[in-house]
Amino acid sequence: MLVAANMYAHAQNVNIIPKPNNIKVGNGNFSINENIKLILLEKNTEKEAAFLNDYLKKYYGFALKVESHINKKNVPGNSWKNAIVLNLNAINNTTEGAYCLVVDADKIYISGNSNVGVFYGIQSLIQLLPTASATALSIPFVEIADAPRFAYRGMHLDVGRHFFDVEFVKRYIDFIALHKMNIFHWHLTEDQGWRIEIKKYPKLTQVGAYRNGTIIGNYPGTGNDNAKYGGYYTQKEIKEIVQYAANRHITIIPEIEMPGHSSAAIAAYPQLSCFPAEATARAKRTTWSGDSTGKQVQQAWGVFDDVFCPSEYTFHFLEDVLNEVMELFPSKYIHIGGDECPKANWKRSEFCQKLIKEKGLKDEHGLQSYFIQRIEKYLNAKGRQIIGWDEILEGGLAPNATVMSWRGEGGGIAAAKQKHQVIMTPGDWCYFDHNQTKNKDSITIGGYTSVAKVYSYEPQSSKLSPEEAKYVIGAQGNVWTEYMQYTTKVEFMIFPRISALSEVLWSKKDDRNWDDFQGRLKEQFKRYDLWKVHYNPIYIEQSDSK
Ligand code: ACM
Repeated sequence: MLVAANMYAHAQNVNIIPKPNNIKVGNGNFSINENIKLILLEKNTEKEAAFLNDYLKKYYGFALKVESHINKKNVPGNSWKNAIVLNLNAINNTTEGAYCLVVDADKIYISGNSNVGVFYGIQSLIQLLPTASATALSIPFVEIADAPRFAYRGMHLDVGRHFFDVEFVKRYIDFIALHKMNIFHWHLTEDQGWRIEIKKYPKLTQVGAYRNGTIIGNYPGTGNDNAKYGGYYTQKEIKEIVQYAANRHITIIPEIEMPGHSSAAIAAYPQLSCFPAEATARAKRTTWSGDSTGKQVQQAWGVFDDVFCPSEYTFHFLEDVLNEVMELFPSKYIHIGGDECPKANWKRSEFCQKLIKEKGLKDEHGLQSYFIQRIEKYLNAKGRQIIGWDEILEGGLAPNATVMSWRGEGGGIAAAKQKHQVIMTPGDWCYFDHNQTKNKDSITIGGYTSVAKVYSYEPQSSKLSPEEAKYVIGAQGNVWTEYMQYTTKVEFMIFPRISALSEVLWSKKDDRNWDDFQGRLKEQFKRYDLWKVHYNPIYIEQSDSK
């Protein structure tokens, strides 16, 4: 054991991503092996202990014996030997997620102001472990005092364009946790597939979860694969995933798109359209597979005119859907979409034009605002808050809405000036469906967002006063999956950009240093290898695009 420990003692540096606020590295190492105990000083840290043990077991082949010392609190600190000690409420930083991690000759001591702090201390410890399998895990002496900069540190995943199974969704949640991020924005409904079981409307998944084919290659495609494609999550699976995320201190924010991107729901329940009898219009210049009569789930990517009609039928439907969604997801926030809703059908609908007059609305944008405000009212009455894409600013913002800025930062800046909470996801920095190299390395939607560009992102725009900037609660990486058919492709697109974003969101603004980050990232690549992550190793060429 000692020989193995010494072997690692020199090779190993401290390369934590996101960079901790304060870190002192000492001279020496503590070795974790099967004889080290995992001591819990406070109640309810079993889940955090289990995460560490699961990680050790998975990557190093052993777990530690857990001992509860809950009633032995007055044992002096220096009496712990050969232990990893987890404690609560013992640090003087009130930021949610703050923690201290001390490694000395006797022990590893992790203390958080709450369970989430302990969890993040464990994440830092994990990044001090060697990146190769070993029986003796040598950890350098350190003293870390750390806390996150932003409260909202998110990753999004579109499971509408392509569906990913429960196992991968859990793996994705682990990636979020390992980066000390805390939000999983789950985009569950799309034109190309409805992915959440709703008991009251079984056709949403019986019909809406499947399409009869998919275009081949970049839009408009070289043809259609003519293969039925789809899938959905049962409510049982969703509950399991929500719990899995909660155990990792991750909140899942579900997104139910409205009024646009709703072709799959309309295929299941045509009455949701202003024109239920009209057949679905396919995307221009694309090839269709199978039945093209009536309402169909879309087979190509894009923005479609057939959107939810703002009728009483639709509102009752959405309220019913949202009731089941709220039962499944305890999140304070429900994302209601709101982006890319063409107004063509509302313009030619007699019903919509009459409604605009009746409600004294200015135009179709006013009608969208009416739509979103009505849904907001419904959700607020149940104690929930809405998040919408920045189009919800058009026609007037719903009173309590949080704005997710994606068409650049303009929407977010405007919303912050109106004293609304903002989550920044501007395409140039936060769209992980863009290429990460100048020379396209696979079929993508286009764009170019290098890891250096992500790393350079500042969510609190200089166009905001310090007071206004406080409304920006964080940022998020968006992962639209039109061109991500396989889980390996999703991994290739998020790694290493997720590591860069995690540092933007967690670390101190003044600590941002690309050269220093690159050094740590190179070490992190070895950890990606340990996790068997399919990452994009080419990133240095982009340092000029910061
Ligand atoms: C979006 O990318 N349509 C929000």
